Amino acid sequence: MNLDELNRRIVDIERETADAAREITLVDSLRSLDSSVLGKTGSLGLLIANIKEYPPDQRGQVGKLVNEAKGRINALLDTRMAELQSVASAVDDAQAREFDPTLPPPPKPMGSIHPVTAVQWEIERLFERMGFTVEAGPEMESEYHNFEALNIPASHPARDMQDTFWLTNGCVLRTHTSPVQHRAMKKFGAPLRVIAPGRCFRYETIDASHENTFHQVEGLMIDRDIGLPHLIAMAKTLLTEVMRRKVKLRVRPGFFPFVEPGIEIDMNCEICGGKKCPTCKQSGWVEILPAGMVHPNVLRAGGIDPDEWSGFAFGLGLTRLAMMKFGIRDIRVLNSGDLRPIVAPVRVAGPIL
Ligand code: PHE
Repeated sequence: MNLDELNRRIVDIERETADAAREITLVDSLRSLDSSVLGKTGSLGLLIANIKEYPPDQRGQVGKLVNEAKGRINALLDTRMAELQSVASAVDDAQAREFDPTLPPPPKPMGSIHPVTAVQWEIERLFERMGFTVEAGPEMESEYHNFEALNIPASHPARDMQDTFWLTNGCVLRTHTSPVQHRAMKKFGAPLRVIAPGRCFRYETIDASHENTFHQVEGLMIDRDIGLPHLIAMAKTLLTEVMRRKVKLRVRPGFFPFVEPGIEIDMNCEICGGKKCPTCKQSGWVEILPAGMVHPNVLRAGGIDPDEWSGFAFGLGLTRLAMMKFGIRDIRVLNSGDLRPIVAPVRVAGPIL
């Protein structure tokens, strides 16, 4: 490249650089333009690297030309950089002014109380008003508490009614909350009013209406002259209160070794309004409250004299009642850890708290 060509090339580079810098609006893009012109392999950078290729007598002049060009380009890029930086900081200032630290934070998606817990709390408050205490029992129970103390001896066929998880230490995962009946009798004696909500376990095949892990509320009232009418009146109060409407009940005989007589209290199905659906097994009724008069053997095992005292017991299906209350058709969502399917449940009866 002779000196004329070099001059023209320098003029071109300066013009192209000035045009590009004017177009650029981002600081980072301007930095890459800088290196694509002045960097070692940049358009002007190459000319600088090339100085040594000229005959020694021309090197001084060539060096002067390209270095002066470099100075002008540097100045041009610096000016543009200052412009861009002042625009950028003005934008930052405007954004900072828009941010008002005194405003409340944006709303977070909130969870809520689990439907089963919500119904459990409601039932606890209701029974507390009726003079009951709330007891808890262990989820891992001895065979004695889960069965024998409840008049279910080892050989009794009623053991087959409840498919049990047996543990290697000889205990069981309680199949119902009824063991708390025995524990409460031992703890308080008669007279006695307790409820015991809690988790129960059965070896079940899981489907829309069966779970291996579910909740019950045990109820036990022992006093003088307690009879079935007390039990039925209590059932009516309980279900009416939870469902926020007058419920229709149906009472049938039922067998449980720890009550005599034993009954099943059914409630008309909330899901279909009695029109028959899969939830109520096409019957219009759901079994919600197995119950009965406490068997004399159970009172005796609990240290209470059956000639002096009588009482009723029930084992409310808490999970099922929560499903009825909130119109939840599939029991599996309740233990799934993902309650989104019921984030907006059909509010059959009242809010979730
Ligand atoms: N424990 C029984 C069950 O889980 C229910 C029940 C409780 C029945 C109390 C009568 C009295 O099936």
